[in-house]
Amino acid sequence: MKAFAEAPCKAIITGEHFVVHGAWALAAAVERRVRVEACEAEELVIESDGHRSSDSSKKRLAPVAKVVTKISEELRFNPRVLIRIASQVPESSGLGSSAATMVAVALALTKLKGMDLGTSETSRYAMAGETAIHGRPSGIDINICATGGVIMDRMGEEAKKVRFAGSRRFLIVQSGTKRSTRTLIDRVSRMKLKYPGLFAGLANSASLISELAATRLVNGDMQELGRLLTYSHAVLSTVGASTPKLDRLVDLLLALGCYGAKLTGAGGGGSVFAIPREGSTDALIAELKSRGYESFQTNVPCEGVKSWLQ
Ligand code: PMV
Repeated sequence: MKAFAEAPCKAIITGEHFVVHGAWALAAAVERRVRVEACEAEELVIESDGHRSSDSSKKRLAPVAKVVTKISEELRFNPRVLIRIASQVPESSGLGSSAATMVAVALALTKLKGMDLGTSETSRYAMAGETAIHGRPSGIDINICATGGVIMDRMGEEAKKVRFAGSRRFLIVQSGTKRSTRTLIDRVSRMKLKYPGLFAGLANSASLISELAATRLVNGDMQELGRLLTYSHAVLSTVGASTPKLDRLVDLLLALGCYGAKLTGAGGGGSVFAIPREGSTDALIAELKSRGYESFQTNVPCEGVKSWLQ
């Protein structure tokens, strides 16, 4: 018997970085997924897109082993399992592939052992792996991959689901530059040490922007939501999360007619989140491709993590 779990990746719509310092952030699950397969084995083996935990990629897969160990210790079973991970998004691209992986691993493993974990338990186990990778994550990535849809999230509080009728379309453009979330969290945190008063003001305004963005999203006012995104990019750039290449990519998307665009996630590379004008998405994706950028559209809301036996 095998257990499977699939978790969506995510995009942060507003409030990244400031969420690490207590602000509200708005995040959406996106239509790219990580699939995890779990079955009984002689020993714990983790495989990820061709890498095995027993070879040189051991360090890379250690955070997954942390999740497995935490669950097996707390729920008292022997972790002799094979975990196989297949992801539709590249690592370090700001789309939460690690969070989606940890969430799917927690759910597939417990499903194999005959349990159905709730969202908050799934998130708690998944955080063990996410913390090992990112150092001091806010938990927003884990929360959105576990719940799906759209959430307003703040550290130490239960995520609030943002519900609306119909769906909204967004574009995600990969800059092609990989980066470390941990390094970027540290860089932005240094700004807080240098300018504490200014940073507190920006964190407050990030909370306000996230509330406004949620309202615009619910009302389907994509033009106004776009303005909030572009404004957020400028602020993120000011605190050191952007790069000249990302700034140019945002400018390009605006020049191509998007209602708004911003870096999403930690920045420093990774991906840009944009709102295309109605009917322009296919042409936009083709134009970006001709300029060397991979992109995809995603409808929001989309489903959270799910598991099944086979
Ligand atoms: O996982 P990434 O690289 O998309 O970044 C997560 C968002 C941050 O706010 C920068 C970090 C966090 O833990 O909230």
